[in-house]
Amino acid sequence: MKQKTVYICSECGYNSPKWLGKCPTCSNWNTFNEEPEIQSSRYDIITDKNSNIKQHPRKLYDISEENETRISSKMHELDRVLGGGIVKGSLILVGGDPGIGKSTLLLQISDKIANDNNVLYVSGEESLQQIKIRATRLGANGSGLYILPETDLDCILTAASESKPTVMIIDSIQTIFKSDIPSAPGSVTQVREVTHYLMRFAKENNITVFIVGHVTKDGNIAGPRMLEHMVDCVLYFEGERTQSYRILRTVKNRFGSTNEIGVFEMKDNGLAEVKNPSQMLLEGRPENVSGSTVVCTLEGTRPILAEVQALCSPTGFGNPRRMATGIDFSRAVLLTAILEKQLGYPMQNHDVYINVVGGIKIIETATDLAVIVAIASNIKNFVIDSKTIILGEVGLTSEVRSIGYCEQRINEAAKMGFEYCIVPSNNLQSIKQRDDIKLLPVKNVSEAIRYLKKIEDKRNKDIQNQ
Ligand code: TYD
Ligand code: MG
Repeated sequence: MKQKTVYICSECGYNSPKWLGKCPTCSNWNTFNEEPEIQSSRYDIITDKNSNIKQHPRKLYDISEENETRISSKMHELDRVLGGGIVKGSLILVGGDPGIGKSTLLLQISDKIANDNNVLYVSGEESLQQIKIRATRLGANGSGLYILPETDLDCILTAASESKPTVMIIDSIQTIFKSDIPSAPGSVTQVREVTHYLMRFAKENNITVFIVGHVTKDGNIAGPRMLEHMVDCVLYFEGERTQSYRILRTVKNRFGSTNEIGVFEMKDNGLAEVKNPSQMLLEGRPENVSGSTVVCTLEGTRPILAEVQALCSPTGFGNPRRMATGIDFSRAVLLTAILEKQLGYPMQNHDVYINVVGGIKIIETATDLAVIVAIASNIKNFVIDSKTIILGEVGLTSEVRSIGYCEQRINEAAKMGFEYCIVPSNNLQSIKQRDDIKLLPVKNVSEAIRYLKKIEDKRNKDIQNQ
């Protein structure tokens, strides 16, 4: 009998009896692949192992609270994104572009945990020799670290049941297959089934399983997004390949908040934790030049300072160009238009280039005022004091509006040695003046520019008096 086939979306796992160009659930184009139809087995998450009878509803009030047990990865940045350590028996998905450093990160984590626990690192992509070379480079020598180059799920689970590790790493989910499922490794069916088995294995044996998943744009291998709802915790490892920073971001966490990030730097000997990202991002900042200023953006609950640069050059011919790296392009165009219309700057005959240094991406409006002032400073050639930080959202009439988490941002700026802080006046109603940093309230963009010019004059006078 001919095996029935179905078409499955590699992004969200939607099944269709016929091929579709666009997925009706996730709206992605060209993501359907033909796969043999299989009957999915039933996987019940066993919450009470000793009972054979069906579970009965119980009063929430009567259920006693058990704290989940966590182990520390001894990597502060990872513990933070996981909400205070690795929860035993949880299933954690680490997604990211190929080559971003997922294997490196997980080998380092395994090594750290393997000092006091057993860790099984299953690699479906690299040979023992390759892993050894990488481990030597990373200086990994955890005594409890076991490596298994294997892609067959049954062999992996047998090995894991025998050795009973505390943590198991699967690198990567797209290479692992279950032999009785007819589709190829990396297909939606395989990835989904294998994850189900791993989930069950993790819960039954109280073993934490980390799954590595490559994010792919083409629909040939199943993306980790499809797995997000199945796992306890989803972490994405992000960054520009050309830059050395990497950000580990929590997208989903059943045991903690999703508002956390961990910052790492890729070095010759692996990933190093960055305890103070602001310091790293502000290193090498030019002083006494126009068009450069510092913004404070919130990554999760963590304020991070970064430098924003603007360059305005006269347009040669035709329409003026606008270019933005690190901030939203349409926001940049909007801010330029506000400068033109509300403050009378000659933007129509200037190209504007904006760059956030260090490869970080700003998605907040709380940095508007800093960006607009950087453009103004470059076009009018005045210097923004390097010890001044600018906070605020800008509205279309050039008014400065209040922002969220203002005090946290001011604290971070004060910690980094900034002396002045321009803040929206509405925010200042709830914040007291302080000794370590002078807060300057503003209602609109012109006021902010006036303050900056005053600070500059004061600095110049101080220099002359010296
Ligand atoms: P890798 O962990 O293999 O990426 P992934 O598993 O996400 O595909 O990392 C690959 C990149 O990291 C590679 O381009 C080289 C770089 N790298 C370093 O810069 N330093 C190091 O110590 C290591 C091990 C890798
Ligand atoms: Mg890898």
